Amino acid sequence: MLDVLRKYWNPVARSEEITPTPTRHMMLGEQLVLWRTSDSGTVSVMKDLCIHRGAALSGGRVEGENIVCPYHGWRYGADGACTHIPSLPEGSPIPAKARTTTYPVREAYGLIWVAQDDDPAPFPDFLDAYESDPAFRMCYVSHYDWATSAGRVLENAMDFSHFNFVHKGYTELADGPVIKPYEVKRSDRGFTYAYDDGHLVRDYTVEFPFIVHDRKSVTNPEGGKTWSDDGESKAGDCTLLTFIAAPVDEATTRIHVLVSRNHGLNRPDEDFTSGFDVVMNQDKVIVESQRPEQIPMDLKEELHLRMPDAHAVLYRRMLREIDLPEGYMP
Ligand code: FES
Ligand code: CO
Repeated sequence: MLDVLRKYWNPVARSEEITPTPTRHMMLGEQLVLWRTSDSGTVSVMKDLCIHRGAALSGGRVEGENIVCPYHGWRYGADGACTHIPSLPEGSPIPAKARTTTYPVREAYGLIWVAQDDDPAPFPDFLDAYESDPAFRMCYVSHYDWATSAGRVLENAMDFSHFNFVHKGYTELADGPVIKPYEVKRSDRGFTYAYDDGHLVRDYTVEFPFIVHDRKSVTNPEGGKTWSDDGESKAGDCTLLTFIAAPVDEATTRIHVLVSRNHGLNRPDEDFTSGFDVVMNQDKVIVESQRPEQIPMDLKEELHLRMPDAHAVLYRRMLREIDLPEGYMP
């Protein structure tokens, strides 16, 4: 898998899944073990590999601040350093090379994030503003596993011109399938664009490479009806859909979906999340059929239209840039 992707942060599990029982996870084609120290509750993400004979640490157990390999009982602290080798006589030094690889880890938005590089990219923190805003309520919807690349998933999450074909009755553009001109603006973390269908304005924020936020603000309540609309939507109602595509391997992607909203706060979250299974499965059928599974890096492959592919062209350009040698200025 592309090594250039290792510096970006990906959600590898939900916070609640990670306990002092080690669990095995795959990210960027690499097997990882996640565990929580039983004393301080610190989360550790390691390569799922004991340096001694290559046994999977995820088959072991946690004791206090250490994970214990199931094969010969070597212990490792959360920082990866071996702290005990049972076969060595009491008082013998532990070789400095006796350590396993650990990765930078963060807990945010109910997810455990990992960057598989010691020098990670800035953390994608767009949701901080919503999490700390008392007018908004954030909830986790679900995760979805698709047999395709994270790039294809992300392009689908950014694409609004398929709504009137794939999501009839759910997320259709109120003013029909003809796409009006819209502007794409590059930002330091990715890019933004907005589209107004006469009922809603959709503000898209892409946190490069694999996160898209789709903020739907009702501007004209009479202008249409959308999915999860209770028939009482009013101007100013805002629903932020967040799609995070985690690259499990080259052709497997786990999509985490979160919703933040500033309306219907007294209603159950399910009113706003229950439609996702249908909509995500409508997309899955199409996206898993796309060939090749990975986005062609040559911009001349596939055919782009100014409308509605302007954002996708920028996205592909940015993907190509990270593949280039350091210091390259586009
Ligand atoms: Fe892990 Fe021997 S393989 S202790
Ligand atoms: Co769709």
